[in-house]
Amino acid sequence: MAFLDDCITTIHALESYAQRANARTGKVIQQPPMAELAAELRVEHWLEHGGLEGEAFTRFLESYLAAATRLHDPRYMAHQVAVPHPMGALGALVDAFTNNGPVLYEMGPSGATVDYLLLNWMLKKVGWNPSPLPGESSPQGLVGGGTLTHGGSLANLTALMAARGCVAPDAWQKGIPRDLLLVAPEVCHYSIGRAADILGLGREALLSPPLDADGKILPGALRGFLRDLQDRGSRILAVVANACSTPAGLFDPLRAVAEVCREAGVWLHVDGAHGASALLSERYRGLLDGVELADSLVWDTHKMLRAPIVCAAVLVRDQRHLDGAFHQEASYLFHDKDQPGVDLIHRTVECTKGAIGLRSFLAIAAEGEAALARYIERQADLAQEVSRYITPLPGFEVAMDPPFNIVCFRLDGSDELQLEIRKRLLDQGDFYLTTTNFRGRRWLRLTLMNPGTELGDIRGLIEEIKTHRQAISA
Ligand SMILES: Cc1ncc(COP(=O)(O)O)c(C=O)c1O
Repeated sequence: MAFLDDCITTIHALESYAQRANARTGKVIQQPPMAELAAELRVEHWLEHGGLEGEAFTRFLESYLAAATRLHDPRYMAHQVAVPHPMGALGALVDAFTNNGPVLYEMGPSGATVDYLLLNWMLKKVGWNPSPLPGESSPQGLVGGGTLTHGGSLANLTALMAARGCVAPDAWQKGIPRDLLLVAPEVCHYSIGRAADILGLGREALLSPPLDADGKILPGALRGFLRDLQDRGSRILAVVANACSTPAGLFDPLRAVAEVCREAGVWLHVDGAHGASALLSERYRGLLDGVELADSLVWDTHKMLRAPIVCAAVLVRDQRHLDGAFHQEASYLFHDKDQPGVDLIHRTVECTKGAIGLRSFLAIAAEGEAALARYIERQADLAQEVSRYITPLPGFEVAMDPPFNIVCFRLDGSDELQLEIRKRLLDQGDFYLTTTNFRGRRWLRLTLMNPGTELGDIRGLIEEIKTHRQAISA
């Protein structure tokens, strides 16, 4: 009974938290000193003594939510993290309560089934064949496959492991060969560099292909670049392309890049952590034109599919490559067994894993494809509207007409000015945005994730920025 009461308290508290945030009541972000929060939350006390239930839990939750950063506030325009659909959050509760690790079918048949079919749904959106259910016959041609990981960073590593298994299968025995190179644009997400580190490639083996001034791959120049590397005796682990890039939300020309990679016999990995969700929209899926020619794709559900953090799909055109990504020995897990479902444990870095597919599935299933496509289109359309609004404002510059839902703009002035403006905005707490380096300069950056953000919020933001600029120059 106590648990049920705590549940009801929690649901009420969350509902009021979301309602206040949706209505722009209070601050979108506040960052009290950690020592102050530690005292307020009495973390050490509860760790030592226990008993954080009932009344005490209610007070703790109040303090916790009071200092939480409010993604539900339409003035949240900062990181590439969804305002989660409440059904996705319920999925997290069910997942945590049942604690079924669905990477082994026997540990969670329902979770494993949801994961498997979610991956198949995504494979079909890419244009790849889904994996058959046990007992079904395989489709004609290559059979696609996938796995879910805790986030895009781990997903990128997993995809590159699959590429390594394909390009240098002897690396398992002999270690990483010295002639292996990874070709990834300078502007790619830092998890690609980390993956290179973890794979033991060394940063000297991470090369940027020729890029245009915005950091997009130049496919014509890529051809010669790959040929030169191959002529010098290097093996290319993969070419990485962005869909879209983290700083400014730009999409590489996937079809042309894929054609060059095919000609050169090189694995193409598409980092679509943020932008692959455009595949749901008839109007925006052209941004990923040619993605089906790639070998692997990463697609986060906790970015543009309204799922709670964290869940990413690693998808491959040929499932055998993902099956070869890892080698493992664990007699208590890996042995021949007759079973009615599919284990995907051999496809991930992780051993025990949450039913993250359930959280994503419930968020997606509550809305359905058409409603999600409308959400995606709304956010991308809003980005263009924002760009049109800011462009003519004196003293402001917009980086470009945004292809998706990330807008970069800056005030006339130094890089330090942009950073100082963001600092003041965050100190005030009425708006939350980030900054980024792009074309060698620092820009203020809006990622329009919140379905409640309107042009009026941007007008308010610009007014506040003007006030800060005046105060700085006074
Ligand atoms: C293009 C891209 N790839 C990968 C990642 C990392 O994803 P995650 O934060 O889920 O690890 C991000 C995060 O913003 C991203 O923008």
